[in-house]
Amino acid sequence: MKQACILVTGGAGFIGVHVARRLMQGGHRVILVDNFNPYYDPALKEARVQKLLADTHHTLYRVDIADHNAMREIFQKHSIASICHLAAQAGVRYAAKDPFAYEHSNVQGTLTLLELAREFSVRNVVIASSSSIYGDAAHYPVKETDITDKPISLYAATKRASELMAYSYHHLYNLPITCLRFFTVYGPWGRPDMALFSFTKAALEGKPIDVFGQGHMARDFTYIDDIADGVVKALEKNLPWAVVNLGRGKPESLMHMIELVESATGKTLEKNLLPMQPGDVQKTWADITQAKALLGWEPKTSLEEGVPRFVQWYRDYFSSNTP
Ligand SMILES: NC(=O)c1ccc[n+]([C@@H]2O[C@H](COP(=O)([O-])OP(=O)(O)OC[C@H]3O[C@@H](n4cnc5c(N)ncnc54)[C@H](O)[C@@H]3O)[C@@H](O)[C@H]2O)c1
Repeated sequence: MKQACILVTGGAGFIGVHVARRLMQGGHRVILVDNFNPYYDPALKEARVQKLLADTHHTLYRVDIADHNAMREIFQKHSIASICHLAAQAGVRYAAKDPFAYEHSNVQGTLTLLELAREFSVRNVVIASSSSIYGDAAHYPVKETDITDKPISLYAATKRASELMAYSYHHLYNLPITCLRFFTVYGPWGRPDMALFSFTKAALEGKPIDVFGQGHMARDFTYIDDIADGVVKALEKNLPWAVVNLGRGKPESLMHMIELVESATGKTLEKNLLPMQPGDVQKTWADITQAKALLGWEPKTSLEEGVPRFVQWYRDYFSSNTP
């Protein structure tokens, strides 16, 4: 008999690799799918799998989630009990270069997984959504019941589309689905396109940084271990239908994050203050009442603890790999 397992899409991604590790530590069998696309250096994706998952027993498929036939073969081969769907074209600004990458991975890819979940009677699905779907909110903190029909980036529009398709699959086929809206996730093995990574790089290389929004932006920075904990809780809870914010619930100014980078690296950054970039929101701040009530989830790590951990990882990683 085939052993029941959890499929983690985007398994070589920043969040995917941490979630997969935690699931395997908890005794689950995990199948990873990732296409190692070059949106950012795939060497980092390879290194995550090699280093973070070295001591684990996992199966990895280098497959595009939008390739229905290739994905169906995986479902035929394994007994997939749950899907943890994290693969996506992330980032707000890249849509100006390749808008179709968002439609391909976030819309077509998500639909492919929902179809397979239905066909193979998967027990439950957890889908990564994003704080960006709130756009420029009328009030803060933002709640899951707030209106989200004015996405100000294509990324946000496709993430909202994923949630809407998920609801229809829940409604039509009684498929239990939880959509998790992540708020600016950061920590070791993080993404090179995100501010903390590029500010740390610039500090250590003695280069200036571009600070958008004239430095007046605020983000509800959420540490990776807290996010991985929330994803695992959502998979284990198996709620019939839920949309849940996973954020720290404490917005921090971008300038404060920069001060923490300066303190952890021991360098002072030269800052070019620039206007807001199209698609960026001024502020993110999650109301996390629902995450506490439905999942029993509570974030534990402050930005003051998390930034030095990221900087330490960055130093260790790039002392053996050229940036
Ligand atoms: N990191 C954050 O702050 C944040 C915030 C909100 C939402 N999210 C969402 O969380 C999820 C994980 O984000 P992340 O930060 O780990 O990003 P990531 O880019 O590091 O991980 C995504 C992974 O998916 C893979 N992928 C993309 N398209 C694919 C496809 N068509 N087929 C197979 N694999 C594909 C990529 O190669 C990558 O390894 C994404 O859905 C993202 O939109 C992240």
